Amino acid sequence: MPQILVENLQGLQISVPEGTTKSVLQIVQQNFVDWMHACGAKGRCTTCRMVVKEGMEGLSSPTRFEEKMRDKNRLAANERLSCQTQVQEGHIVIRVPKDTQLPHQTYSD
Ligand code: FES
Repeated sequence: MPQILVENLQGLQISVPEGTTKSVLQIVQQNFVDWMHACGAKGRCTTCRMVVKEGMEGLSSPTRFEEKMRDKNRLAANERLSCQTQVQEGHIVIRVPKDTQLPHQTYSD
């Protein structure tokens, strides 16, 4: 079963059901974790982005929204939009970028 590890949320680990079509954002929210998503998961804002430290190869292909944000230099090569990305296999290690951290959430370093 694929796994998500959110490094700077106290090492939060989430098991992802095989074959799920849910996005990383939806999976994280289902586990009662708040995550910024200003445009409502429409791929238009980049506030939901995640830094992918490991496991990029186990993620779904970038969507046209992500490609557009990359072209505008709003999404780095090691980042994905959590609202647009599914975990397909393996173990992914992600981080919440500093500038999209929520004030009421506690982040570890
Ligand atoms: S929530 Fe806006 S791009 Fe994902």
